[in-house]
Amino acid sequence: MPHSPASSLPAWFLGPRGENAELLERLVVEALRDHVFWRRNYHPEDGVVIREMDKRQEGYEETVATLTQELIGLLARLKRDAPFFSGRYKGHMISEQTIAAQIGYFATMLYNPNNIAAEISPVTTRLELEVAGQLALMIGYDPARSWGHITSGGTIANFEALWLARGVRYLPVAAAGAARELGLELSVRLPGGRTALLGQLPLWELLNLTNPATLDLWELLWRSAPPDDVRRALADHSLADIGYQEYSRRLALDYGDPLPAGVVLVAATAHYSWEKIVRALGIGSNQLVHIPLDTCYRMDPDALWERTRELARRRQPVLALVSVCGTTEESAVDRLDLVLEVRSRAERELGMTFHLHSDACYGGYAAAVTRKADGGRRTAAEIQASVGADWPSPEWVRAVEALGQADSVTVDPHKMGYVPYAAGAILVRDGRARHLVATDPPYLAPTETPSTDIERFLGRYILEGSKPGAAAAAVWLSHKVLPLDERGYGYLIERTVAGARRFHAALAAADLGLFRPVVLPVPDINIVCYVICHPAVPTLEGVNALNDAIYQRMSLSRPDGAPEYIITRTRLRSPMYDGAIDPVLAQVGVTPEIWKAAPADGLVVLRSTIMEPFLAAPPPAPDHVTGFLGALRRACEEALTLRR
Ligand SMILES: Cc1ncc(COP(=O)(O)O)c(C=O)c1O
Repeated sequence: MPHSPASSLPAWFLGPRGENAELLERLVVEALRDHVFWRRNYHPEDGVVIREMDKRQEGYEETVATLTQELIGLLARLKRDAPFFSGRYKGHMISEQTIAAQIGYFATMLYNPNNIAAEISPVTTRLELEVAGQLALMIGYDPARSWGHITSGGTIANFEALWLARGVRYLPVAAAGAARELGLELSVRLPGGRTALLGQLPLWELLNLTNPATLDLWELLWRSAPPDDVRRALADHSLADIGYQEYSRRLALDYGDPLPAGVVLVAATAHYSWEKIVRALGIGSNQLVHIPLDTCYRMDPDALWERTRELARRRQPVLALVSVCGTTEESAVDRLDLVLEVRSRAERELGMTFHLHSDACYGGYAAAVTRKADGGRRTAAEIQASVGADWPSPEWVRAVEALGQADSVTVDPHKMGYVPYAAGAILVRDGRARHLVATDPPYLAPTETPSTDIERFLGRYILEGSKPGAAAAAVWLSHKVLPLDERGYGYLIERTVAGARRFHAALAAADLGLFRPVVLPVPDINIVCYVICHPAVPTLEGVNALNDAIYQRMSLSRPDGAPEYIITRTRLRSPMYDGAIDPVLAQVGVTPEIWKAAPADGLVVLRSTIMEPFLAAPPPAPDHVTGFLGALRRACEEALTLRR
C-alpha cells in the first residue's frame, strides 16, 4: 500500500522551527565525511600535504581564529536576511528549499563540478540532462526529441528561448541564400501543408515556415552538400554571423523592399526580463508588443487573434509569442490551449506562424499536479477531490496540458521547485533547434569523443559558460524525493493552492475596521494580490500612498526592521493592464481615466506569494492567516496615522 504524500510532507523541509535539524545535520555530516573518505582514498600513496605540525604554527592558528570569528560575524549578519522559512514570510516567490535540494547542493559543492562540459563534470552533466528529461516529461514533451538544461535562472532561460526562436525563424532566409550559393534546389513544407521550392519563396513565406519544417530544411541542407561548404555558405547569410546591419542590407538587396522589423508578442503580464532580452538581442524594446489581458490577467486570445491579423496585413513577421504560465504578479495561467488555436488559425487563414514560448518560470512545476504516479494525466475532478476545493477548473488543466505543444518552455527549479539559487531551466520541444546557436571553443572541442559525449558538452549550445553542477544535483535529488507528480511536487503545490485560497477568502471577508480590502480575483495558482482602501483616502494617489506605507510597515525596510509579517508590493500599470484592471478600479473607487492619466504610478497592489504548504490546514499554533490579518490591521492603522 503506497503511503500518502501527506505523511511524507513533514520530511520534505527543515521546518519553520528547524524541526528536522537532526536529519539535515546527519546528512551534512554524512556528505562531508564521505567526501573526505574520497580524498583520502584517492591515490593514498600521495601522502599528506598539510601536516599536523603545520597546524601548530602561529599563522595557521591565526587564520583559523579569523575564519571562526568572521564566520560568526557572517552568521550574525545573515539574521537580517529575509526569513523565507517562516509562515510569516508572505512576499516574493521564494520559500523554504527542500532538504533534498539543500543536501544535494551541499554535497556536490564539495566536489565543485562545472557543467559547462562533461570532462569537468562527468557526473553532474548527466544529472542535468536527466533532470531536463524529467521536466520535459512532466510538461508533456517527448524526451527523445526535446532538449533542455539548467540555467542560472529564468531570465537566462527566457533569453535562450528567444535566441533559439530567432535562430529558427531566420534560418530559412539563411538557408535560401546558402542554397543559392551552393546551387541547390531544396523543397520545404509550407504552413498549409503544400511543398514549395525554397529558392522561389518570397521573404514573407520564408519567415513563416513552421519550426518543424524549418528544422527539417536545416537537416536537408546539411545532407545536400559537403559540411564544410554548408558551414561556409550559412555563415555568409546567417544573422548570427553577419549581424543585424549587414543582414538588413542583404535582405534589401536580395528581396527588394524588406519587410517591417520582426516583433515579439508578449502577454501584457510578461516579466520585465523580456524587455532586457529584446534589448540585449538587438531586437529592440519597441518591437515588444503587449497582448491585452482578460479580467483574470490571462492573455486574451481574441485580442491575440486581432493583433495577429493586423500584423499579417502589414506583412510584419512575428519572431515569437510569449505566453505565461504563472504570472509574476498574480500567478495567472494563460489559456495556452486557446493561444495554440490562434496560431493554428493564423497558419491556416493567414499563412503566418511563429515560435510559441511559454514562460512557465513560476508556474511550470504546477504541471506536476496534473500527473499521476504512473505518468498518466489526472482529470480536474480528481485533482479537486485531492485539494478539497473547486480548483483547478477543466480549463486550467487544458491550459497546463498544452505546455507540451509549446515550442519552448522555461521552468525554474529555484521558484516552485523549492531548490536553492541558481537554477532555472529551458526546455525545447524540437531539440534540433540547439544546433542553430552552437559555438565550438577550441579548448573544449569534443573532437574525438563519442556522439553522446558531444551532446553532453553543454557549453556548445548554451549562453552561459561555467555553471554549477551542484545546482543540477540539487534539482536531481529533490526530484528523487518529491517526484514530479501527485506524490511529490503535485501534492506540495496543491497544498500551497489550498493555502492561498484560504488566505484569499479570509482576506476578502476580513474585518479591518474602516479599512476595506479589495482582493484581486482568486489566483490561478498561489499568489494573492490586494489593495487596502479607507474612506479618508478617496484619491488614487492617496490609495497608492496608503498601500505603499502599509508595505513599508510589512517589509524589512520598516524602521525597526522587525515586521510581524512580510509582504511585497507591485504596481499594475497602463497600458498593460488596460481593461483587465477595471473591476478592481471600480471597487477601489477610481475611474480608469484617472488611473490611465498617471501610467507611471499605476495602482499599488500588495502581494503575497503563498508557497508554504502548511497554511491550508493550520497546525495547532500559530495560525498564520489570523495572525496575518491582525498584523495587517495594525500596519493599516500605523500607515494611516503616519499619513496624517
Ligand atoms: C514569469 C517569470 N519569468 C521570468 C522570471 C525571471 O526569473 P529570474 O529572476 O530567475 O531570472 C520571473 C521572476 O520572477 C518570472 O516571474
